Amino acid sequence: MQTTFVMVKPDGVQRGLVGDIIKRFENKGLRLVGLRQLTPSLELAEKHYAVHSERPFYPGLIQFITSGPVVAMAWTGVEAISVARNIIGPTNGREAAPGTIRGDFAMDIGHNIIHGSDGEDTAEFELGLWFPEGVVEWIRDAESQIYE
Ligand code: RTP
Ligand code: MG
Repeated sequence: MQTTFVMVKPDGVQRGLVGDIIKRFENKGLRLVGLRQLTPSLELAEKHYAVHSERPFYPGLIQFITSGPVVAMAWTGVEAISVARNIIGPTNGREAAPGTIRGDFAMDIGHNIIHGSDGEDTAEFELGLWFPEGVVEWIRDAESQIYE
């Protein structure tokens, strides 16, 4: 089992996509273990995107992610990190396949609706950053049907 960090970005919240996005992760069989809405502070945004701090798009990215409320989530499941990345789709919405969140809803690289951790170390770092009090321990009964 892995837990991954997923965040609906300000464009996804403003466009009213939060419910649809949560439904996709639930339908797939992942277990929701953390959920909070907040407008990220500059400090939080800079920590989250520190890995991109030298990239030309970084200032715009920080401006965007702090521009309004986001919905931060933690999802648990077998190989949850790659499963979530597959549900999300590639960075550029125009290149993302239909059926993925970015493929269905995004037309741009920056305004691409959603974020998902890209590896185990990143997931651990991001979960600690956005859910400092930890996540919810529970078992979804349906997992006895979801997994063999
Ligand atoms: P994310 O971290 O948000 O899940 O997206 P990702 O892994 O697909 O993309 P990543 O390379 O980690 O980039 C982080 C976010 O920065 C914005 N970006 N803009 N203008 C550009 O060339 C550019 N490249 C990246 C995107 O919002 C991307 O999701
Ligand atoms: Mg990334």
